[in-house]
Amino acid sequence: MTGQDSEQANASGGWAGEATSGADAGGLRFVPHDRSADASLVEFLTGSVWPFHTEPCLDPAVVLRRSSDGDFDTSGERECWWALCGGERIGLVVIFDLGDPTPMFDLRIAARFWGRGYGTTTVRWLTARIFSTRADKERIEATTRADNWAMRAVLARCGYAKEAHYRQAWPGADGACDAVGYAILRSDWLTGRTTPVNGDDEPPGPPSSYPG
Ligand SMILES: CC(C)(COP(=O)(O)OP(=O)(O)OC[C@H]1O[C@@H](n2cnc3c(N)ncnc32)[C@H](O)[C@@H]1OP(=O)(O)O)[C@@H](O)C(=O)NCCC(=O)NCCS
Repeated sequence: MTGQDSEQANASGGWAGEATSGADAGGLRFVPHDRSADASLVEFLTGSVWPFHTEPCLDPAVVLRRSSDGDFDTSGERECWWALCGGERIGLVVIFDLGDPTPMFDLRIAARFWGRGYGTTTVRWLTARIFSTRADKERIEATTRADNWAMRAVLARCGYAKEAHYRQAWPGADGACDAVGYAILRSDWLTGRTTPVNGDDEPPGPPSSYPG
């Protein structure tokens, strides 16, 4: 792992170019997970229902198996962090695909802490962490279910732009839901200005005139 073993979030107003540590901690501190904390991992992941994940209720045995499979390890290609509030584990972040040009992440805040700004603080922190510690990363992506309005609000507030809408792409108990893809560019993170997404790029003319 690069960087500090424990980091504080800078929760100041904007989302651009924020430091990964600072005096304004926004009430959260971030520490890496290791397997010695697997009991806490089980408690956290089974202690909330995750309505927008494909498995809303997690079984302790499943969590432990995933841990032994390395899903929550910090390795070259992934990082797993706890968000602590006053010493309590209130959030879990898994950053993955760090070996690819575009890393992604999974974020969970314990249900009883939703709506207090912790999701926003955490996304700002993880964005700053990735761009600050991985000089080769020019963008970060996040995909979520289209009806996950809280996550979408968080992403938009943190400077992520919606780039994709995937129809019926997210399996759910009541059938497939639409999914949406967001991303932030390093250059946008540095400047605080969102580069517009070009969603109007169909070839001119009727489909019969398309090349090929
Ligand atoms: C998504 C999640 C991380 C957000 O964390 P959080 O701490 O609640 O986020 P914040 O408090 O920073 O912001 C939430 C925003 O969503 C808004 N919001 C919440 N529910 C909403 C809804 N149904 N419709 C519209 N906006 C909604 C809130 O009003 C808030 O915006 P505001 O501050 O402008 O009012 C958290 O709800 C969570 O862990 N959910 C379950 C796991 C999950 O879905 N993770 C995403 C996987 S990709």
